[in-house]
Amino acid sequence: MTTRDEAAREAAALSEQLHKHAHLYYVLDAPELPDAEYDKLFQRLQAIEAEFPDLRTPDSPTQRVGGKVLEGFVKVRHKVPMLSIRTETDISPGGASAFDARVRRELGLAEDGPQVEYVCELKFDGLAMNLRYENGVLVQAATRGDGEVGEEVTQNIRTVRDIPLRLNGKAPPVVEVRGEVYMKRADFDALNERQREKIAAGQKNEKVFVNPRNAAAGAVRQLDPAIAAARPLSFFAYGLGEVTPASEGGPDFPTQFDWLQQFDAWGFPVAKQTARARGAIELIAFHENIGRQRDALPYDIDGVVYKVDSLELQRQLGFVSREPRWAVAHKYPAQEQLTEVLGIEVQVGRTGKLTPVAKLAPVFVGGVTVTNATLHNEDEARRKDVRVGDQVIVRRAGDVIPEVVGVVPESLAKPEGERGPLFTMPRQCPVCGSEALREEGEVDYRCTGGLFCGAQRKEAILHFAARRAVDVDGLGDKLVEQLVDANLIRTLPDLYRLGFTTLAGLDRMAEKSAKNLVDALEASKKTTLPRFLFGLGIRHVGESTAKDLAKHFGKLDAIMDASEEQLLEVNDVGPVVAQSLRTFFDQPHNREVVEQLRACGLTWEEGEPAARAPKPLAGLTFVITGTLPTLSRDVAKDKLESAGAKVAGSVSKKTNYLVAGEEAGSKLDKARELGVSVIDEAGMLEILANGVPS
Ligand code: IVH
Repeated sequence: MTTRDEAAREAAALSEQLHKHAHLYYVLDAPELPDAEYDKLFQRLQAIEAEFPDLRTPDSPTQRVGGKVLEGFVKVRHKVPMLSIRTETDISPGGASAFDARVRRELGLAEDGPQVEYVCELKFDGLAMNLRYENGVLVQAATRGDGEVGEEVTQNIRTVRDIPLRLNGKAPPVVEVRGEVYMKRADFDALNERQREKIAAGQKNEKVFVNPRNAAAGAVRQLDPAIAAARPLSFFAYGLGEVTPASEGGPDFPTQFDWLQQFDAWGFPVAKQTARARGAIELIAFHENIGRQRDALPYDIDGVVYKVDSLELQRQLGFVSREPRWAVAHKYPAQEQLTEVLGIEVQVGRTGKLTPVAKLAPVFVGGVTVTNATLHNEDEARRKDVRVGDQVIVRRAGDVIPEVVGVVPESLAKPEGERGPLFTMPRQCPVCGSEALREEGEVDYRCTGGLFCGAQRKEAILHFAARRAVDVDGLGDKLVEQLVDANLIRTLPDLYRLGFTTLAGLDRMAEKSAKNLVDALEASKKTTLPRFLFGLGIRHVGESTAKDLAKHFGKLDAIMDASEEQLLEVNDVGPVVAQSLRTFFDQPHNREVVEQLRACGLTWEEGEPAARAPKPLAGLTFVITGTLPTLSRDVAKDKLESAGAKVAGSVSKKTNYLVAGEEAGSKLDKARELGVSVIDEAGMLEILANGVPS
């Protein structure tokens, strides 16, 4: 390669570029470079550092991927203690007024004196970190610990992409930036998804994390930095530790807000919601405003923080024990609480989905009293190992349905005999007693009762009446709700038994609307077989499958009686659809509903079964590539499939023909390599017309 000098120059330039693009990507969310380009620069730098290891500086972007495994953490004494904030226990607006009143009193401000200026920040739910920069380079990261002594976690913190390894612009000899290391909800969910996969694959010492905070804390304290690097952490800056004094050339800012702006300029993420406020009224407005946004934020916060903006006033106010008088945390209702599981029930949704639900000792969480929390599905309930009598963590964020996050370790540690049984999903629908089935590859059990199941009644009726089904004009969800709740309709045929008098007697139903509905019901009786079939709401039978079935069999009875094998002969009907049709028509009450609908006068034209199309190309596999001169690829594919051929996406040894058009690329090369016959569109049409040349 090059001389060391050249390498050093190139490494410095690469490092510069990588820092810039990482900041654009991770902090500003405005990438300018495609990922692949970034990776190239990164790999180039890695290569140089491999050849000249002394060029591998602690602030090199390559240090983000994690270094050697540690044996333990070294203790670090903080030069400036890391304090905590007093929490305002009153979560109502009164909490903000009380803080402002206290500050004014301590500062000796008259009631009609000027408003105090504050900075309002978010209270992030992660862990506090002290980041020490010397001459602009990150040299040490330490946890808060007891506030006096923390632990050095520099290696792990270097893997946090939005923490600058080197400050942008002019940096003082020493500065310590403090802030919160946290995990975004989406990153947390993805991490847990990976953890679940590892557990499913039999990796015994892996676990699922209870919340983003725990996951973040675990990642920071990982002795193996490579594992820490795989746990995506983020950072927000909010405070200052040691800094070179102004008298020795350090920066001198009069307010907290100015410091936050400096952090931003140095390349740290600073929450964009941060705002200045004057007096209690503006504090309250901030608290309420963020409260509304809370659930939409991509990370957890448990409150907001108010800080007196002027550093001079902060000095005047000072501290009580370990808490500054100039700051307070104003909380929101907790989104997680502990409670006891009193029972586990199964609920049936409008679409027939069975959901296990934990019945809880009432608990106030996320601002409401919660007595039910979802366990999502059988696998989740078993994985979390939730049993009756357990203490569990319940989470309710915003309007999201409350969920059981996990069981506390004390309950999990109880001997098996002292706990309730492990949850299993009933094989019968708890509402209608029909069989409950879990299809292959699905996590949910579903009631197969369809039209018969009380839980699915409203949905079934709405679906049947929909425009794309039998189309009962004017039968919307409000009306269906009313009709079902008043017990006027239980199954679909009841719809056609509603008379004008009954309808006109309903709340908010004018005579004219009642008449219109009677007419619409009458009009809907003359329908088509595909609409009727689609309207039955058979799982996996959409409009186009319904059309295919009608065309293939011609008559409803033929469809109802077809075996799975016969069903499989229909275009686009696979085993899942075939089985679903069979299950549906095997339930006597579903057949009963069909009979009654016919008896109510629903009619459609029936036809002859489509002559079984010959499948001359059955057993052959085609691949299509490039642009064909006259046919679109979809049309070509349809033609081949109708003749029984399989059309695959990539060329392999099993491919019989490659149909190649203009600008055919790698597939053509591959076909040639494997000796697959290559034909053009005309060749394909020839085969379709006259079969494979012998
Ligand atoms: S300032 C002297 N600002 O809350 C004040 N802390 O109990 C020092 N926290 O350990 C902290 N968001 O982990 C401050 N915007 C924010 C914060 C914040 C979250 C955490 C931090 C600290 C704890 C204080």
